[in-house]
Amino acid sequence: MSQGLVTASYIVAAVFFILSLAGLSKQETAKNGNLFGIIGMAIALAATILNPATSGVEWIILAMVIGGAIGIRLALKVEMTEMPELVAILHSFVGLAAVLVGFNSFIDIQPHEVSEVVLVLGQDLHTTLESAKAAFVEASQVQQAEHLTGAMLNIHLVEVFLGVFIGAVTFTGSIVAFAKLRGLISSKALMLPHRHKLNLLAVVVSFILMVMFVQAGGAVTPLILMTLIAFAFGWHLVASIGGADMPVVVSMLNSYSGWAAAAAGFMLSNDLLIVVGALVGSSGAILSYIMCKAMNRSFISVIAGGFGNDSTAASGDETVGEYRETSAEDVADMLKASESVIITPGYGMAVAQAQYPVAEITKKLRALGIKVRFGIHPVAGRLPGHMNVLLAEAKVPYDIVLEMDEINEDFSDTDTVLVIGANDTVNPAAMEDPNSPIAGMPVLEVWKAQNVIGFKRSMNTGYAGVQNPLFFKDNTQMLFGDAKDSVEAILKAL
Ligand code: TAP
Repeated sequence: MSQGLVTASYIVAAVFFILSLAGLSKQETAKNGNLFGIIGMAIALAATILNPATSGVEWIILAMVIGGAIGIRLALKVEMTEMPELVAILHSFVGLAAVLVGFNSFIDIQPHEVSEVVLVLGQDLHTTLESAKAAFVEASQVQQAEHLTGAMLNIHLVEVFLGVFIGAVTFTGSIVAFAKLRGLISSKALMLPHRHKLNLLAVVVSFILMVMFVQAGGAVTPLILMTLIAFAFGWHLVASIGGADMPVVVSMLNSYSGWAAAAAGFMLSNDLLIVVGALVGSSGAILSYIMCKAMNRSFISVIAGGFGNDSTAASGDETVGEYRETSAEDVADMLKASESVIITPGYGMAVAQAQYPVAEITKKLRALGIKVRFGIHPVAGRLPGHMNVLLAEAKVPYDIVLEMDEINEDFSDTDTVLVIGANDTVNPAAMEDPNSPIAGMPVLEVWKAQNVIGFKRSMNTGYAGVQNPLFFKDNTQMLFGDAKDSVEAILKAL
């Protein structure tokens, strides 16, 4: 494949990635968006492998086969509720790749000893693989590296340093996000003393190390020291963010992973990687901004590891009074006596896979002439759009599924609200308690309805680890048990 054709293929792939992002922005076009992404990536991979400047194709193919097999197995095995964990761990791979590319690039630009090692390695490769092409490419890379002097060398050193920094922060930050989402560590915010000063110190020291690194024309000690600091910094940034803000963290890490890929693109002089990294980085940043607005959080505060979020409140997981229990039969009677019903689903509906009986109940109640609608919080579940996907899967009509802003004013005119496996997203403490860890987050104001039924298995807290006063209000009754079993029991009683 000629170099011109490779460049043309990269442009076509980039266009497919843009079409993919556009497709993914709407539920109806999301499938096509995925397809465009797959086509774009297939073109990009083919062009990279067939590029005459690419050496060691055997290794690339071997890595692709192993990586592809693991990826396919994981994707087939993963439950919908585990998807954010998978996304988080994939972000960590991008971060690690940027760190490795950075160190590799650093070795490449070493004029003396290290480049000799590279040359020897190149010769070994040549002998072993008997590939004249590989040796030529290796040699030309070293030659090119040796020609990097003055301003160009400094720019390249800054690229390497920043690429490794962003990659290292993304790597450990994503691992902490994975552990929090999987429940391996507490989802509560880690509140180290002087934590903002520690973050600032990490940034300032890394900057000083960058100056030293560039002034020395690429010294290994500052690079390694910065990498260790960036690992700790990424870990601390995400550990300091509370459970309810995890959706913003995941999209923010998505953005970081994009910038890490773009940095790797600069280091490798690969235009497509720069374009794709910038697309992922900027779309992730826009998504984080939208999420911050929806959650009434400051964008700067979240990207700076909860800066300004100095709530010294107690964990908020203590019980708040008495609650009342009800039965499936009583709920069925209450529903039949209602004129309007709103269902607010949450993570528990996803865990129980209760969307199918929920769709059945909806059909039945509508057939009885009762107005049924759904109220969806922007961060209900564990994925953006999680509830919408589940309800669409169960064929609930789109037009009765409303966003929080569209339905929040209607709760006061509603007879019955079914809170199915939702907790943080319907917690009045967010509005009533300024010391709560979720203070300021907009929630579905379900308590304004005549009657509220809480579907849960226990009085345990939601993801943010905060007790919910809703379940202790006079107009709330609890229906304990697995949400699917409870909804099926109501369906039977109807
Ligand atoms: P949560 O606050 O997570 O609460 C879910 C509730 O479901 C729990 O209280 C749990 O109580 C109940 N539950 C679990 N399994 C159940 C089952 N089989 N049957 C019945 N109930 C069950 O849910 P939410 O209101 O959807 O809020 C989402 C939270 O996740 C927010 O804090 C949000 O910030 C965070 N988060 C969201 C995302 C995105 S993008 N959506 C990503 C990461 C984090 P029991 O254990 O007592 O049953």
